[in-house]
Amino acid sequence: MDKLRMVGGTPLKGEVIIAGAKNAALPILCACLLCDEPITLRNVPDLQDVRTMLKLLQEIGVTVSFPDADNRNHVVLNAANIKSSEATYEMVKTMRASILVLGPLLARMHSAKVSLPGGCAIGARPVDQHIKGLKAMGADIKIKSGYIQAETQSVTGRLQGASILTDMITVTGTENLLMAATLASGTTILENAAREPEVGDLAELLVKMGAKITGIGSDRLVIEGVEKLHSAEHSVIADRIEAGTFLCAVAATGGEVLVKHCRPDTLDAVMVKLREAGLEMEVGSDWIRASMKGRPKAVNFRTSEYPAFPTDMQAQLMAVNAIAEGNSTITETIFENRFMHVQEMNRLGADIAIEGNTAIAQGVEKLSGAIVMATDLRASASLVIAGLAAQGETQVDRIYHLDRGYDRMEQKLTLLGANIQRVK
Ligand code: EPU
Repeated sequence: MDKLRMVGGTPLKGEVIIAGAKNAALPILCACLLCDEPITLRNVPDLQDVRTMLKLLQEIGVTVSFPDADNRNHVVLNAANIKSSEATYEMVKTMRASILVLGPLLARMHSAKVSLPGGCAIGARPVDQHIKGLKAMGADIKIKSGYIQAETQSVTGRLQGASILTDMITVTGTENLLMAATLASGTTILENAAREPEVGDLAELLVKMGAKITGIGSDRLVIEGVEKLHSAEHSVIADRIEAGTFLCAVAATGGEVLVKHCRPDTLDAVMVKLREAGLEMEVGSDWIRASMKGRPKAVNFRTSEYPAFPTDMQAQLMAVNAIAEGNSTITETIFENRFMHVQEMNRLGADIAIEGNTAIAQGVEKLSGAIVMATDLRASASLVIAGLAAQGETQVDRIYHLDRGYDRMEQKLTLLGANIQRVK
């Protein structure tokens, strides 16, 4: 198992290029299942979850090609000859986002069998809202032997448009129902829809494929179903979480970094908190120049759905608070168990206590290097940030979590002057 070894204490300096968003690329790859013509994608991040999704799509019968040798960011998918409508337990247990094939397969093939995801390191994460929404669209859904077995029931085989109000805001739930609704007969209204930019990016691709969607970017999506979708080209939106992670790294280590190919308009809540922490930022249409002098100031924050502060940035900003001047409270409202990094940060000398869904951090002047263990994707990123700010050597084990969602993170950090190596 790979590890990352780093010696902290070097301020970051230089330029970093942000990749396409993992959480936009995953539903976008699944959208290819909705039609029998090629979908051309650019700015697809080259990371483990994307490779897993491509493998799942290939198992279903999608042809995947990379037109430019040596460039895995440009992908062409063709679902003309689907041979299966199944996502096995083996695939879903590796990556929960495999659930995103359910809506498109059901809409196009009129049946789908997808393993029910189990629990997860950050919370229970049920998919009841995905199922409830598809049932409202006329699907017959049974849970059998650990699988969601779904079939349409109409004479034409099409799902039926419906008015759906989810009990809570769910990102992949909105994406699944949105994809399913594009091929349904009649109009679907999704109320309480997730407004995350990744949902908007998927909707933009669907519109290019011929879907009729209004309300993109709002919490009310109206989809008028069409009989067929067609070929399209799309470039995946920049990863706001990767950009935010590098901004936190600068806030924690000091230095000056130009974050390029990003979307500052999707990072408002993160930038507000980082400014409060003392990070200076100059912002252009697709870049942020961040500089940090001295020690950060502690900031209180609370995670919530977009446009509020993202849960996927909670751990990284906590790493900044760990070494900040002052005390802070950090409240996690999306997932019930997303504080697994706290014990590991404390091994680096942080002083953070957990009370229910709130972490209370007493900023310490210095962290000191140690061996720590990554428990999930964003927890890993936070430990890398803490390690880069710590004195001495830190080793982050189980780095496969990081590889699921970051495109060559240690190479990008090396270019910024960090002393960091991957150890096989
Ligand atoms: N929920 C339910 N029932 C459902 C769906 C969700 O109870 O049917 C609950 C969840 O348990 C959670 C809350 O609703 O408490 C929100 O979950 P959501 O469905 O929005 O999460 P997700 O779609 O499974 C996506 C991202 C996550 C990100 C969350 C929240 C993808 C592939 N994943 O997950 O990304 O944290 O939205 O923004 O888009 C990550 O990248 O590290 C990551 C975990």
